[in-house]
Amino acid sequence: MKLRSYAKINLTLDILGKREDGYHDIETVFQHVDLYDEILLTELPTDIIEIECNVSEIENSNNLAYKAALLIKEELNIKKGIRIKIDKRIPIGAGLSGGSSNAAAVLKGLNYVWDLGLSEDELISLSRKLGMDVAFHILGGTCVGRGRGDILERIKDFDKHYLVIVYPGFEVSSRDAYSELDYAQIGGKKATSYFIRDFSLPLLHNDFEDSILQRFPKLRELKDELGENALLSGSGSSVYGIFNDKIEAKKIYDKLLEKYSDVFLTETLNKRMSLATEMGFCFGVKKAIDGILSLDKEKVYVLGKLIHNPQVISRLWEQGVRMIEEYGGIDEGTIVISAHGVSDDVIDDIKSRGLKVVDYSCPLVKKVHNVTKEEEKAGRKIIVFGDEKHPEVKGIVGNLHDYKVVSSMDDLKEGDLDEDITLVCQTTRDMREFNKLADEIKRINEDVKIIDTICSATKARREAAINLAKESDIVIVIGGKISSNTKTLWDICSQVCQTEHTESKKDIKFEWFLDNERVGVTAGASTPDWIIKEVVDQIRLIL
Ligand code: F3S
Repeated sequence: MKLRSYAKINLTLDILGKREDGYHDIETVFQHVDLYDEILLTELPTDIIEIECNVSEIENSNNLAYKAALLIKEELNIKKGIRIKIDKRIPIGAGLSGGSSNAAAVLKGLNYVWDLGLSEDELISLSRKLGMDVAFHILGGTCVGRGRGDILERIKDFDKHYLVIVYPGFEVSSRDAYSELDYAQIGGKKATSYFIRDFSLPLLHNDFEDSILQRFPKLRELKDELGENALLSGSGSSVYGIFNDKIEAKKIYDKLLEKYSDVFLTETLNKRMSLATEMGFCFGVKKAIDGILSLDKEKVYVLGKLIHNPQVISRLWEQGVRMIEEYGGIDEGTIVISAHGVSDDVIDDIKSRGLKVVDYSCPLVKKVHNVTKEEEKAGRKIIVFGDEKHPEVKGIVGNLHDYKVVSSMDDLKEGDLDEDITLVCQTTRDMREFNKLADEIKRINEDVKIIDTICSATKARREAAINLAKESDIVIVIGGKISSNTKTLWDICSQVCQTEHTESKKDIKFEWFLDNERVGVTAGASTPDWIIKEVVDQIRLIL
């Protein structure tokens, strides 16, 4: 599995004082940047950890990434092997936290590869045993770090900025940097609390700067070359310049490339997830599921596919709910009608066999039944836009005699549109496709009566999905593989941005999120909250 391990800069760094345990209390704004090492995790058949790195001096068991794998194995008693291959791009000893970031990436990666199910809090708690900055790299984005830097608060994202980061070619040890601090000169500035009010660039601040720039005049020179908003990162030795404008950043980058070999043009990185404003269980499905769960399960049978979601079906099965495709062999008990509904004949037939019927047909599906029956009674032929194999459509046409189910104009034969016709739609179909078909039919039979029977919940979910896709680099659609509305959500979003489908957290792929910063999540009407939560938690752990 391939991972990216991002560098960080400190937008502010206040050193508040020395603690009794020898560490320092700090207050800092951490920011992830899009400069990264690549890490490849490969499972091994034997219980060992191997490390490989393109920088030989850190290709050993002192490497924090190695220590992270060892920690997770020891703490969770895991007898599995892993090879960690690190392709380093972040300079070492540069105040960019590359080593800590590698460790965090390994913790997150092994949690996924070995399916450990560790929560974000558990990963953070493990990370504290490895080093101060590691916890930040579990969260990423923009955070305030307090205490030793490992007590983290997610704050609103720092807006997109462009950065030129220069590694001057020498390291500064943090230990030395702390030992040379002039405590009389630092502290009490509260730069962090001022900066986070409005992220004003002139308020960038680092308590290490005075002593470090004094010791290394070359860094002061470098800072001047990086423009008015430049700062030492951490205890150095890297210095960065920060810009609102990419072109301006590129000019400085080109100039500094002539002088320094390790110059990086990059940008701030805030991988974030947004949820669609409308998603998941619709009221029709929720009403049916809640109703079924409230029933005494003894001799209760749900007719047909209650919901197009295998995880929900198996959970209901565990609770004693039995699904049946046929009621012919049942001679006692209750038959439950799902939200998709069935025709009147089916209900009459069940009752005639002495069985009880509990009808959880969605009221909006019932409305389509009623309207189509009335239209047929008025002498009109019914054209249903939908899937003839879908239970909802079977239920609708089961009440009719003069009808035709179509999924496109191709399904219509000569003469089909000659009579007085009424066009309706399966409740979960795409509005745009329905409108297109309606227009095409109108060109042949201008008197066609068009009744929009797409349900409001479906429309709201689709509108929310379109808005989400416009604001995202990738959208994850959660729902059953055979769920019609889930498929439509996928179709809609995939026209706007990269879109992936998942039934549960198990199908999620780490690589979906490598190149995508803004992740959107939506879910079909048959996806329950607990599956959405599992998927969202899993994505949060990956980002
Ligand atoms: Fe009813 Fe619409 Fe849901 S028709 S079952 S509310 S998708």
